Amino acid sequence: MQPFAIAPSILSADFARLGEDVDKVLAAGADIVHFDVMDNHYVPNLTIGPMVCTALRKYGVTAPIDVHLMVKPVDRIIGDFLEAGASYITFHPEGSEHIDRSLQLIKDGGAKAGLVFNPATSLDCLKYVMDKVDMILLMSVNPGFGGQKFIPGTLDKLREARALIDASGREIRLEIDGGVNVQNIRAIAEAGADTFVAGSAIFNQPDYKAVIDAMRSELAQ
Ligand code: DX5
Ligand code: ZN
Repeated sequence: MQPFAIAPSILSADFARLGEDVDKVLAAGADIVHFDVMDNHYVPNLTIGPMVCTALRKYGVTAPIDVHLMVKPVDRIIGDFLEAGASYITFHPEGSEHIDRSLQLIKDGGAKAGLVFNPATSLDCLKYVMDKVDMILLMSVNPGFGGQKFIPGTLDKLREARALIDASGREIRLEIDGGVNVQNIRAIAEAGADTFVAGSAIFNQPDYKAVIDAMRSELAQ
């Protein structure tokens, strides 16, 4: 995978034509498919589950699928996503009774595991599980909806997370999710992110390739 990865959030895709829309965004240069799972309990919205992940794999999607679980409790749905072909599975610490166990469940199933931190959630618990995470996802909006505005304080938090990753010496992706667009992606990368989720910024434009190219050229500067 490239050092910088663009991960379109299919939350903003056309659900009536999901397979085609995912093909289209991958053909436009996306690296990862970001798959937002909301349960109307942990977050105030309801989206898609493992059946849709299975359907995308059956349809022929081979790109990494990055499953972002905004659900509580998280453990009982992990196995279904492992079977459905998830590549990464990330969850919010608040959604798990036993964070270490949930991470281990994901890893035992052969997927990459990650933790997601809301804008006001501290990174403290990371220090106990740094050896088990393959991805750290920082939310730059409160989870539940696409199309919200990037919270600027997340840049400092990204720097904090980057320092922890560098100190660990491990290969851990640092992903950012919420309000990412062509205008702010460079500052976000400079703060330490290497994986960029973008939903509305990509899917609300007619030409996905133009947006992804513009993001990459910001990252190349
Ligand atoms: C929000 C989701 C995001 C969302 C991002 O809870 O986790 O992945 O789709 O959408 P944008 O890029 O529109 O903020
Ligand atoms: Zn997400």
